[in-house]
Amino acid sequence: MATNRILITGGGRGIGRAIALRFATKGVKICVASRTSDELDQVVGEIEAAGGEAIAAQFNMRDHGSIESAVYRATDFFGGEMDLLINNAGIFDVRPFEDCDPGMIQKFFEVNILGAMYATQEALPALREAGNGHVINISSTSGLRGYPGSSVYCATKYALRGFSDALREELREESIRVTTVYPDSTDTTIFDGVDLDIDRSTMDSPESVAEIIWNAAQADECAPDIKTRPE
Ligand SMILES: NC(=O)c1ccc[n+]([C@@H]2O[C@H](COP(=O)([O-])OP(=O)(O)OC[C@H]3O[C@@H](n4cnc5c(N)ncnc54)[C@H](OP(=O)(O)O)[C@@H]3O)[C@@H](O)[C@H]2O)c1
Repeated sequence: MATNRILITGGGRGIGRAIALRFATKGVKICVASRTSDELDQVVGEIEAAGGEAIAAQFNMRDHGSIESAVYRATDFFGGEMDLLINNAGIFDVRPFEDCDPGMIQKFFEVNILGAMYATQEALPALREAGNGHVINISSTSGLRGYPGSSVYCATKYALRGFSDALREELREESIRVTTVYPDSTDTTIFDGVDLDIDRSTMDSPESVAEIIWNAAQADECAPDIKTRPE
């Protein structure tokens, strides 16, 4: 299936950057979106070096107006149609639940679930216009089981899974596909500064996760739920 016009939130580094580079080829248009413009500009250059066309959309998942602007910018670049929206931007921390203050809880919900819902809502007309639009939501194994110190993160990733499941049913008749991906531990900056005793050399690479997502996007019959490691 042709996936030529792609918006990737959190496309400036980590898994989002790896996805952008996996899709980057001649004929593809990619919009990468996040807060850090230097990282976005770098990825735009890398996509262009691979033969694709790209733009950066600086935005903040915590700000509805900024999400609207980013999706508008992407859709305009794509000529009004979007084949694939990848809701990838996210934040992570490990902290006992009692130490999670309201501001932290609100931030996690804004970035990890509300921003993805708003971006999807804004992108739907263009996904519909494309005829066979696809939404890929990057959840986590933390959207499938609980981990100590991750009550807030898990709550947001379970919410993303619930959102995906319901939206998939709602859009089924319109042939807009909705897929949830559940990456296992992947070596990215998301673990920088996190108080977690974990050997990062045992983690997956962002490129291996991107490969799975690229394969999923090419499939005519894409599985609704994709785990990145065999159980
Ligand atoms: N790494 C793992 O082990 C793992 C496992 C399971 C699931 N995941 C999920 O995979 C996704 C990508 O994670 P990653 O590991 O690649 O993390 P990462 O390297 O920290 O990248 C996160 C991306 O999200 C963007 N982002 C964060 N807050 C944002 C905000 N307020 N507005 C806009 N963009 C924002 C960041 O850009 P800026 O900071 O510049 O805004 C960055 O581009 C996340 O949803 C994460 O939960 C990761």
